[in-house]
Amino acid sequence: MSSPLSEPLSFDRVAAQYERTRPLPGEVADEVARYIASLVEPNEWILDAGCGTGRFTRALIKHHPQVTGADVSPEMLAELRRLQSGFPQPVLVTTDLRALPFPDAQFGAILAVHVLHLIADWKKVIAEIWRVLAPGGVFLLGYEDRSKSQVRDFYMTEGQRRGLLPRHPGVRNTHADVLPFLESEYGATDVETVSPPAWEWTRMVSIAAMLSDLDSRLYSSQWQIPETAHIEVMAATRANAEQVFGALDSTEHETQETRFVLHVVRKS
Ligand SMILES: C[S@@+](CC[C@H](N)C(=O)[O-])C[C@H]1O[C@@H](n2cnc3c(N)ncnc32)[C@H](O)[C@@H]1O
Repeated sequence: MSSPLSEPLSFDRVAAQYERTRPLPGEVADEVARYIASLVEPNEWILDAGCGTGRFTRALIKHHPQVTGADVSPEMLAELRRLQSGFPQPVLVTTDLRALPFPDAQFGAILAVHVLHLIADWKKVIAEIWRVLAPGGVFLLGYEDRSKSQVRDFYMTEGQRRGLLPRHPGVRNTHADVLPFLESEYGATDVETVSPPAWEWTRMVSIAAMLSDLDSRLYSSQWQIPETAHIEVMAATRANAEQVFGALDSTEHETQETRFVLHVVRKS
């Protein structure tokens, strides 16, 4: 008998604010979606595994008719539906990725962005993804590569230094850990890394807004910090921001450069 699954890290608590922490320009989402749609036949299904509020699902459905989003958080899926109201809705399934309610070989492409680091038994997720991926289909592992933030990174480093920020339970490094695992366990050697210039963007981030997001614990790595420690780390983060940027009014900004990266793994 298989052992019961541990409690998943649902994003229910931050559903309404989640996209503030991971802003994605519509034109970049469209470019990524267009690329993914080009990898499948029109009658094939695409799965966005751990779709959250659908940053990518909502773009995919514009460029491909058959899109499913799966997530363990009913609130994230409700937010996706709300953001997509008035437009075509993807099929949405509330499920744990470690036990997918889909038949074998159902999907021509499966996307997973920022999710495997949250799941301790991520190898179970991979096993399920591989099961429901059709032979010849593609598994797409995506992430945003962001430049350092004077504010957010200060909080995270300070939290780690004080031993308050637990490491995420799942796998951190796609390149070093997931791809070698896919090769050794599933013989997946056909891997391409894609990140064209159209998937890069620069944005000005308000220091005050960033401090407010940190204060509200919008980032999942902050969820386990005790309140008193959070208050202390916040005070240190504010003091550092004042030192770097001067008096903090709503005009202070920092520049953030981001590029989206996809590892495209083909199932033979
Ligand atoms: C950081 S968000 C990423 C959402 C989306 N992929 C994106 O890039 O915006 C992680 C998502 O994974 C979901 N999640 C975490 N553990 C999960 C699990 N075991 N099964 C299904 N979804 C899970 C969370 O509820 C959350 O919506």
